[in-house]
Amino acid sequence: MNAEFYRHPLSKADAAAVAAVLDTPFLTTGKVCASVERQIESYFGVPHAVLMNSWTNGAFAVLLAMELQPSDEVIIPAMTFIATANVIVLAGGTPVFVDVDPRTLLMTPESVEKAVTARTRAVMPVHLYGQMCDMRGIRHAVSRARSVGSEPIIIEDCAHCFEGARDGYKPGRYSDAAIFSFYATKNITCGEGGAAIFNSEKLYQRTLETRSHGMSATAIDRFREGRYNHWDMNRLGTKANLPDLLAALLPKQIAAIDQRLIERKRLAERYRSAFEAGPLRLVEQIGTGVSAEHLFVVGVGNGARDVAIARLNEARVGVTVNYRSVPETSFYRRRLGGLVNEWPVAKKWGDETLSLPLFPNLSQAEQDYVIATVRRVVYPLVDA
Ligand SMILES: Cc1ncc(COP(=O)(O)O)c(C=O)c1O
Repeated sequence: MNAEFYRHPLSKADAAAVAAVLDTPFLTTGKVCASVERQIESYFGVPHAVLMNSWTNGAFAVLLAMELQPSDEVIIPAMTFIATANVIVLAGGTPVFVDVDPRTLLMTPESVEKAVTARTRAVMPVHLYGQMCDMRGIRHAVSRARSVGSEPIIIEDCAHCFEGARDGYKPGRYSDAAIFSFYATKNITCGEGGAAIFNSEKLYQRTLETRSHGMSATAIDRFREGRYNHWDMNRLGTKANLPDLLAALLPKQIAAIDQRLIERKRLAERYRSAFEAGPLRLVEQIGTGVSAEHLFVVGVGNGARDVAIARLNEARVGVTVNYRSVPETSFYRRRLGGLVNEWPVAKKWGDETLSLPLFPNLSQAEQDYVIATVRRVVYPLVDA
């Protein structure tokens, strides 16, 4: 028996949607992208959605649209994927790390309020593993901390949370922009891809430009009505647009996402009840939230995490680490000039966590095998 870490939901039947794009002249961003953007806008009830070729490039385009300066600070959690911090550095700003809540591993309104300074340009909460941060609380905390001057922009990192909610609201409700990932292992995937949704009209208009080199006209506009139209470059941009070829894989998945969440929840609940009385640490579930159940993570204490990974791999159970604390990586240690021990919760969790297989077509037999293997090879390491 074995259990892979992840299997995507796409099959040869999905190739028809891609083949249909091959019959169109340009293959890149066009009518398919436009229709998926309208689908995402109506899913979230927001005025604007823009497809991107990754979360990373989408976030980079949004930050370029803000024209960050080196002294501009962007507050992010220390427990996240490195991309959250990297895009800020790439766009010329300064990431400011805050520690996370030990029970949920999420950034809190209190930590944001303490970190806001006169230089804060933006706050980027991360909805880690599928649970949403308290966005209403973060919005209020930012307003309280900055009663004078312009209020920092709030951008949600929704790479783990398309279909989640908190206190009845979804991503996009309390932020200026929210960015999603359609990377290979995400709940919705087209291999590589992403999307941004906007409440801020200005940020949306500028991001349309920074998504495409800073050009003032999109490809469709440049060739509108069979004529070539000139364009200008207003600001520095990147190349973050998604081709129709990949966008064609998204509509069915978006339409089915709430149904598929039922399956993810069933699997996650089975893990939670199997491990709840055992020696591993589980992430506290927020009672008023709907988790997108993107990853199922456990904390392995006793300094045994890496041995646990080796034993699980020997038993052919696929696992990963999501994530090590970002300020602990060599690059950020150098950049932060020796600031250490400032983010103890993220450091400890980053040393202890591992992620188990969780995807809708994980069979019951495979999940039973994962549970039995964790009990057999990991529990004794922690109990010892
Ligand atoms: C929290 C978080 N943010 C950002 C990203 C980057 O997403 P992408 O690979 O689409 O650029 C990821 C991807 O794993 C992620 O987990």
